[in-house]
Amino acid sequence: MNEAGNIERPKLFNRRSFLDLCIGGLITVTFAGVIYPAFKYILGANKLGGRQSFGLLEIPLSDLEDGGAIIKKFRNKPVIVARLSQDKIYALSAVCTHLGCVVKFNKNTKQIECPCHSAIFDLRGNVVGGPAPSPLTVYDVKISGDKIIIGSSS
Ligand code: FES
Repeated sequence: MNEAGNIERPKLFNRRSFLDLCIGGLITVTFAGVIYPAFKYILGANKLGGRQSFGLLEIPLSDLEDGGAIIKKFRNKPVIVARLSQDKIYALSAVCTHLGCVVKFNKNTKQIECPCHSAIFDLRGNVVGGPAPSPLTVYDVKISGDKIIIGSSS
């Protein structure tokens, strides 16, 4: 009780410590917002395998049998690489242009299909069915020795 007869409550926070706490929290959130994406980019790059150098993706030919397809990470996005025969290899963005699902290669139809809303693309990226509004990005493919080299988009 104070001199006026009121009960004094202990102060957990005064105005200054509350402002210090808010500023500290703001600095922490801002720092985490910058650092976390940087670490994620550095540590998470190329989780899907393949070797990237000078903006190119190299995949051993032995990783991809005739009639098969694989998805690799290229420039931080999934790319689907499909091989019809020894020298017919296609590389396209694996991100559906409708709502962004990752597409799959159908070896029977030799088309790329989206499992989400059934968009269908040919191996040149053109939309041949479904709701996709635009074609898939197509990447240049070269075969060099025992490697598939995926490069610039067209
Ligand atoms: S996200 Fe691919 S068809 Fe909808």
